[in-house]
Amino acid sequence: MEVYMSKYEIENVKLTAPKLDRKDLEYAMTYRYACKKFDSKKKISEEDWNAILTAARLAPTSLGFEPYELLVIQNPEIREKMKAHGWGIQAGLEASHFVVFLTRKKVDLEFDSPYVRHIQEEVKQLPAEIDAAYREKYAQFTTSDYKTFESERAAFDWASKQGYIVMANMMTMAAYEGLDSCPLEGFNQDDMTALLGDELGLFDTKHFGIAVMAAFGYRDEEPHRNKTRRTMDEIVTVVE
Ligand SMILES: Cc1cc2nc3c(=O)[nH]c(=O)nc-3n(C[C@H](O)[C@H](O)[C@H](O)COP(=O)(O)O)c2cc1C
Repeated sequence: MEVYMSKYEIENVKLTAPKLDRKDLEYAMTYRYACKKFDSKKKISEEDWNAILTAARLAPTSLGFEPYELLVIQNPEIREKMKAHGWGIQAGLEASHFVVFLTRKKVDLEFDSPYVRHIQEEVKQLPAEIDAAYREKYAQFTTSDYKTFESERAAFDWASKQGYIVMANMMTMAAYEGLDSCPLEGFNQDDMTALLGDELGLFDTKHFGIAVMAAFGYRDEEPHRNKTRRTMDEIVTVVE
């Protein structure tokens, strides 16, 4: 008997635990660095790029709300205009692919917003009683547990956190494919919103803000220094 799967479903209930070599992933994560010089002539293949987008789609988000969208800016004139509003994104704008992570504002995070209804009813297809249980918990979450509805800013920042998880997944996949990336916060959010949202109409500023950006492509130079990180002792406290 054929089992119906909606376009929103990704089969995983029957998957067995992966038996992959952890060294491969650790190598990729060590290889990844915040690339400062991209080869503007080398383009990521469609197959590799689709894998990076799949990594985005598979990212976890709080409550499964997926409050993000990706703007992939491939237009050279728009990239040129963006340069005026970002001190830290100049090199990234030369990369093969350039992603603006849009995340949702409070109006779309309200439980009865058309967006959350879409997620609960069409994407997750939750039965009414489970949706009702969500409603109760979400009210508690937004007003008291995490106070995400305390302000417009708190709501947007919460949505943005989810966007950062998406970005991290994408960068890890890129490194796994031997590609380079750079996460980017070195731009002015207001000016960039005025350009991409208000002037160019690439997104609706009532519903979305710019959380972060990232460039993906091929390095044009090796990193100048080894990676530095605090030691495990500085990072981890085990409480037994
Ligand atoms: C959220 C975020 C924003 C960043 N913004 C920029 C940026 O605007 N420009 C830049 O060159 N590097 C940026 N970086 C790169 C960091 O400086 C870099 O990841 C960090 O120094 C660690 O180095 P590594 O990524 O090479 O291991 C950013 C990193 C993160 C995680």
